Amino acid sequence: MKFFIDTANFEEIKEAHAWGILSGVTTNPSLVAKENISFHDRLREITALVDGSVSAEVISLDAEGMIKEGRELAAIAPNITVKLPMTPEGLKACSVFRSEGIKTNVTLIFSANQALLAARAGATYVSPFLGRLDDIGHDGMELIAKIAQIFEIHHIDTEIIAASIRHPQHITDAALNGAHISTTPFKVLKQLFHHPLTDKGIEGFLADWNNRKSE
Ligand code: E4P
Repeated sequence: MKFFIDTANFEEIKEAHAWGILSGVTTNPSLVAKENISFHDRLREITALVDGSVSAEVISLDAEGMIKEGRELAAIAPNITVKLPMTPEGLKACSVFRSEGIKTNVTLIFSANQALLAARAGATYVSPFLGRLDDIGHDGMELIAKIAQIFEIHHIDTEIIAASIRHPQHITDAALNGAHISTTPFKVLKQLFHHPLTDKGIEGFLADWNNRKSE
């Protein structure tokens, strides 16, 4: 499973990129709204730094508007992926982008049937939202497993991005259940490093080194 970061904050992206683990970035209108910068300028900064897919979401609700917006976004850099909502209009736009060779990420996926529809419309990626399903008492991970199984049975090459990640256990379970990618907030990415025995081990090694007998 590959790591994408789910943020529009450039400092967070730079830090995670420096760790050498980053294969892509996802943004959404809520994440962009937190940043005090033009969306297109931020996408230019991100795409100049990160080689992998950078998802940029359209705001229009009709296919015509989505296609216009998506083409403008895709013109920013070759690694832009146009993020589209899981609606009939979103899928119309998705199939147009497929014919134009523009990558797409169909977002707000909450059922296996939605994922299958998006895949058949030519989505490069589908984004099932784990955390938001868990929030309403459903099992987000079960959805990942179902989508992975369906895509495997039917030889579908659309990649599954486990989204709406809330904690480290989501990452392990998404990897075990067949997600190709997890898109993770910076806070959760940082949590992945930590283990009490690692901290204790470093402390012990340093203490022994500082108390060594020879110079
Ligand atoms: C995915 O692409 C979305 O940006 C994101 O994962 C949504 O997560 P949230 O439920 O924490 O807003």
